[in-house]
Amino acid sequence: MKQFTTIRETREYLAGKAEKGYSIGFVPTMGALHEGHISLVNRSKTENMLTVCSIFVNPTQFNNKEDLEKYPRTLARDAKLLRASGCDVLFAPTAAEMYPEGETEGIDLEFGLLDKVMEGKFRPGHFKGVATIVNKLFAVVNPTRAYFGKKDFQQLAIIRHMVNSLKLPVAIIACETVREPDGLAMSSRNMRLTIAERSQAPEIYQVLSKMKEKAGKMPVKALKEWAMKKIQETPDLRIEYLEIGDRETLVPLENWSHKERGMVFAAVFLGDVRLIDNIELFL
Ligand code: PAF
Repeated sequence: MKQFTTIRETREYLAGKAEKGYSIGFVPTMGALHEGHISLVNRSKTENMLTVCSIFVNPTQFNNKEDLEKYPRTLARDAKLLRASGCDVLFAPTAAEMYPEGETEGIDLEFGLLDKVMEGKFRPGHFKGVATIVNKLFAVVNPTRAYFGKKDFQQLAIIRHMVNSLKLPVAIIACETVREPDGLAMSSRNMRLTIAERSQAPEIYQVLSKMKEKAGKMPVKALKEWAMKKIQETPDLRIEYLEIGDRETLVPLENWSHKERGMVFAAVFLGDVRLIDNIELFL
């Protein structure tokens, strides 16, 4: 596996491959890799001639300084995992490399409601930071296809919107959320949970799964209230939001008239660790 830290050497190497007709699959990450990331690498490997992974803890998408500081950084271990998974190129730049003008620079795109609800509402500026860095990374890697997990479903919608608005020549591939055997969605943040918090964390997915059984059989509002009460009964879980929304527009559902597009999205704190999850209610 080639490992680069500068834009220049990454671009040069990949441009050489593209000239030879290689298709390039790209998995952007912030490191602290887990099986979910490796599943994206594996999918990319089956669909492309070359797979590139980036590791960059992007400062502009953290609206909370402490969250940025506490974000796990495990580059040596991550590189080892990527090598073992058959990734071809790792791009792991510094903040100065990606933001030479400082961290105030950012892409100015109109996202409509997509960046106003849920994550957008509770993490102001987060999606501007995500769109900025993903656009920059695309400009470095020039991928044929880029792979994102559905756990960050709203992020996926933002990136799709950006790619359509800017007419970027990349196919966005959405991949299923990978879960622990007890249902907890894999996340780099899980490693920050205490043993007690980790034992309660699967309750999030359990409640979402029960909502799927109940969806359509009771009013949307009542289902939401039932789920919020259930989550709050678990001592260390604190809900930031729980929304039933439309898969395409993310607009909150008021009734089941377009139920086939219904999804539930949740953000829940365990101590100071914030976890998100979502599932389709009718698929
Ligand atoms: O999903 C992530 O890990 C990050 O938001 C991404 C897409 C790598 C941008 O920093």
